[in-house]
Amino acid sequence: MLRIEHLRITYGNAVEAVRDLSLDVPAGGIVALLGANGAGKSTVLKAISGVLAAEGGRIAGGDIAFEGASLRGIRADDAVRRGIVQVPEGRRLFARLTVAENLSIGGFLRGAAERADTLARILDLFPPLTDKLSRAAGLLSGGEQQMVALGRALMARPRLLMLDEPSLGLAPVITGEIFAALARLRGELGLTILLIEQNASRALALADRATVMEGGRVAASGAAAALAADPMIRAHYLGLSDSGTRRNVREAVALAPRVRWPA
Ligand SMILES: Nc1ncnc2c1ncn2[C@@H]1O[C@H](COP(=O)(O)OP(=O)(O)O)[C@@H](O)[C@H]1O
Ligand SMILES: [Mg+2]
Repeated sequence: MLRIEHLRITYGNAVEAVRDLSLDVPAGGIVALLGANGAGKSTVLKAISGVLAAEGGRIAGGDIAFEGASLRGIRADDAVRRGIVQVPEGRRLFARLTVAENLSIGGFLRGAAERADTLARILDLFPPLTDKLSRAAGLLSGGEQQMVALGRALMARPRLLMLDEPSLGLAPVITGEIFAALARLRGELGLTILLIEQNASRALALADRATVMEGGRVAASGAAAALAADPMIRAHYLGLSDSGTRRNVREAVALAPRVRWPA
């Protein structure tokens, strides 16, 4: 469904944020894009959703194709029309608008019947939002705000849903609820998902396949279960030693710069 080939992205003329990235997201699949801060993950997502130019970035090489059509130079609203919808890093809700208003913004391309139908689905997925629809979004907890951000994306009826670090700043139990919702969305709607995460263990438990980025390049890529079992991935990204016990942070950091994987 989504095919990225030898993608290069620069900001200004100086920063090469993505150097050579190839990645496939098949229809109905869940693919995780992992990597440390600054690896280039959000930049890839911005290029797919058409907001890269607004941030001073441009595709300097390679291509991104969605169902065979190139996304180079696409505008954000055209991406949404094609069914590409993102839940941005940091949620980006309108804090003073109500939950219902934030959700309806996501459905701007949809008719009233479709919006009502999707709203019912969102409330079924996230019951805590039911009695908070008329509350200002800024007054909700972090977990509830992430639910609204995901709900707003669903209102657009995405075909490809992309999430940028949905677990950031959330308690583990809330992260579990968000990830369970993603699993349901794939199961019930056949939704295709590209998930950016720093929480690699959660992401690898949900995804079919994963790509690990480092310095704008692919550091590792493969089936999620295989990556989760790989000793180097476990040490570097999951903070686990082979026995499954948590490495101390100093040990993990000391190991990190020396670890390299074949593409
Ligand atoms: N708008 C921007 N202008 C210039 N450089 C940027 C911009 N956004 C990101 N970068 C740089 O691009 C690199 C990748 O950033 P990003 O894609 O946000 O990484 P990640 O999401 O993996 O943390 C970093 O070096 C970052 O400083
Ligand atoms: Mg990011």
